[in-house]
Amino acid sequence: MNINQFGKKGWTPDRIDNLNGKTFVVTGTTSGTGFEAAKILLSKGAKVVMLNRNSKKAEDTIATLKQELGKNIEVINIQMDLSKQTSVKKAAEEVIKTVPQIDALICNAAIAQVPKQTLTVDGWESQMGTNYYGNWTLQALLFPLIEKSKGRIVTVGSLGYDMGIKTIKFDDLNWDKDYTPNNAYSQSKLAQIMSIYELQDRLKEAGNTDVKAYACHPGSSRTNLINTSGSFMMKFIFNIMKLSPLTQSAEKGAYPQLMCATEPHLDQSGFYGPTGRSNWTGPVGAHKIEPHAKDKNVAKRLWELSEKETGVKWNI
Ligand SMILES: NC(=O)c1ccc[n+]([C@@H]2O[C@H](COP(=O)([O-])OP(=O)(O)OC[C@H]3O[C@@H](n4cnc5c(N)ncnc54)[C@H](OP(=O)(O)O)[C@@H]3O)[C@@H](O)[C@H]2O)c1
Repeated sequence: MNINQFGKKGWTPDRIDNLNGKTFVVTGTTSGTGFEAAKILLSKGAKVVMLNRNSKKAEDTIATLKQELGKNIEVINIQMDLSKQTSVKKAAEEVIKTVPQIDALICNAAIAQVPKQTLTVDGWESQMGTNYYGNWTLQALLFPLIEKSKGRIVTVGSLGYDMGIKTIKFDDLNWDKDYTPNNAYSQSKLAQIMSIYELQDRLKEAGNTDVKAYACHPGSSRTNLINTSGSFMMKFIFNIMKLSPLTQSAEKGAYPQLMCATEPHLDQSGFYGPTGRSNWTGPVGAHKIEPHAKDKNVAKRLWELSEKETGVKWNI
């Protein structure tokens, strides 16, 4: 059995010091783990730049946060639809104009279990386009600012990386032949995680130790994820699951991403999430990751393909 480096209770936000003077960029904060992460960062004195697609919801979120934490919190929203490359590029430009530093970029926003094959405006399967290519471009464009502040990139993945076909379907990336919601979602989350470990390798090769990159997941948390994009059946199943001890609060689901964004000296090669039964709930820490998530040939091919598909290159 793995010993949790943070003790029996695992990692909790009690470990976060005062975050005055630090800036965090968090995507998808209108609900779920992103909302909870933003709230905890703000409660520790950080500045938070939220990137959300729905400006009205973001305004309401800011109002709620001010009501709960006081009106002096430093929080703004920049509109960004992660499923549209033009929107991601515009948002990245605005972030660069607005803040002088990024201590951590938390890539939390995602959609899941989209019932029928749908393509983004850029022509990618919707989960791959939003969860993977959207984040790829955002991370690459904000990289210089993160590098300047010796900051971190945190990707919120999913245990789904170990479901589906457990590799990248290079010959049919849009699932034109045999789309299923779970396979397509799982591929997008695997791609997100793989690109973090590949980024680590590329940083190491370039002798760049200034930026750190982490992969984590929230286990099974009670959020809006399935209600936003899942089928009627998936919503039904997940809403029943939410009543069981197989799920945890959205707040607990936010701990892994908060840990990766703030905990000093955290090993980048780890995969972080709940360490209880099936890694769905329980004390937060490092746990096993299956080798296919670190398959070097697949990761390298995916990286090169992503540069070609998005036309965006990292300046590492
Ligand atoms: N909940 C779980 O059990 C679970 C399990 C494994 C992994 N995860 C991962 O955890 C992360 C957080 O999800 P959650 O469970 O907290 O779900 P959630 O409550 O649905 O929150 C997702 C957030 O992402 C935003 N979003 C969705 N599509 C977007 C787009 N195109 N552009 C910008 N923002 C967008 C949503 O905004 P709107 O309000 O506008 O929809 C919302 O703010 C995701 O990466 C998810 O894959 C969750």
